[in-house]
Amino acid sequence: MTSLSELPIRDDLRGKTPYGAPQASVRYQLNVNENTHPVPEDVARHVVESVARAVLGVNRYPDREFTELREHLAAYLGHGIAPEQIWAANGSNEVLQHVLQAFGGPGRTLLGFPPTYSMHTIIASGTGTQWVAGERDADFELSPETAARQVAELQPDVVFLCAPNNPTGTPLGVDVVQAVYDAAPGIVLVDEAYAEFMPKDQPSALSLLPGRERLLVSRTMSKAFAFAGARVGYLAADPAVIDALRLVRLPYHLSALTQAAAVAALEHAPTMLAMVDDIAAQRDRLVAALPELGYRPYPSSANFVFFGDVDDPNATFEALFARDILIRDVGIPNTLRVTAGTAQETDYFLEQLAALGAGGAHGAADGAGDGASVGSQA
Ligand SMILES: Cc1ncc(COP(=O)(O)O)c(C=O)c1O
Repeated sequence: MTSLSELPIRDDLRGKTPYGAPQASVRYQLNVNENTHPVPEDVARHVVESVARAVLGVNRYPDREFTELREHLAAYLGHGIAPEQIWAANGSNEVLQHVLQAFGGPGRTLLGFPPTYSMHTIIASGTGTQWVAGERDADFELSPETAARQVAELQPDVVFLCAPNNPTGTPLGVDVVQAVYDAAPGIVLVDEAYAEFMPKDQPSALSLLPGRERLLVSRTMSKAFAFAGARVGYLAADPAVIDALRLVRLPYHLSALTQAAAVAALEHAPTMLAMVDDIAAQRDRLVAALPELGYRPYPSSANFVFFGDVDDPNATFEALFARDILIRDVGIPNTLRVTAGTAQETDYFLEQLAALGAGGAHGAADGAGDGASVGSQA
C-alpha cells in the first residue's frame, strides 16, 4: 500500500482532484441533473429484448462503426444531419475526451468560460491540454462581443461553449456560437447536454453546422432522454472531424450491449422525451417560487436551477441532506444548484427549504447535525 503522492504519476496530475459529485442513497436525488423519471416499462422491455439478442453475439467484437446507432442518432437529431456526421461514445464525457485527444493535447490550449461544466477542465487536464479560463459578463451571461473578443485575443486551439451552461443554466444563443466560430482559428465545440430543455423557439447550434467544418455539437442521452446509467453521448460535425476522432478512440469502444440498448431506446424517442415539458414546468416553478423564500434564481433553460442569496451554502446543503434531499454546492459563494424533477420532488424541496427560514440559515443550524455528511463539494 502506498499513497498517490508517492507514485511516479505525471507531474501535471499532481495535486489534482477527481470528479466527485456525492453519490448517496437519499429519497430526493437532485444533484447531478439526471432525469428523475424512470424509464417507462414498455421501453424497458424493448431495451431488454434488444440487449438479449445482442448478448447472443458477444463472442464477437461489436460493430466498431456503430452503424445502426449512428443512423438512429442522425434521424433523432434531424437538421439534415447524415450518419457520417455522427460520433458516439460512453457518455458525452468520453466524446469530449476524444475531441481533446484529437484536437487538444500537450502544447495546445482549450478556452472555456467558467463557471462551467467541471468535467471540461478535468478532461483538459487528463489529455494534457492547457485550460484557459475566459471571462463572462455580469450574472454569468456571455455576449457575442465578450466571447469573440477573448477568442480573437487568445487564439485557442479549441473553444468549449456550454449551451445552456452548467452549473448556471444560462442560455447561450446561436449568435454567440456564430461570433466565436468566426473569431476562432480552430475547433469550436458546443456542449448541448441540456438542449432538449431549451425553449422550443431557441435554435440549436446544430442549425449552424452546414459550411462550418470546425464546429462540433455534442449531446447526451443522459439528461432529457433518461438514459444516464446506459452511458451514451454523441456529437455531430463534418465527416472529416469524425475521421479525426477515429484516430484516438480505442477499438470497439462502444459495447454491443450499449449499442443495442441505445438503438432500442431511440426507437421510443417520443415516449422517452414525454416528460421534458413537465420537467421544464417544474424548473419554471422553482424559478418562480425561490424569490418568495428569499433566494435569487438565475434564468435557466436546462433541467436545473442555480440560485443565489444563500447565507451558508454548506450548512443549507447539509440541512437539506438531513431531510433526505441531495442538491449541489458547486463552490460558488452564496449559491446552490437543484435539479428539476417531478412535481412531488419540487413540492418537497420547496417545503423543506422554506422550513429552513430565509437564507437557509435558521434550519441549517437545526438540521446540520441530524444526518451523516456526504461533503457538498463537486
Ligand atoms: C454540460 C454537460 N455536458 C456533459 C455532461 C456529461 O454527460 P454524460 O452523461 O453524457 O457523460 C454533463 C453531465 O452533467 C453536463 O452537465
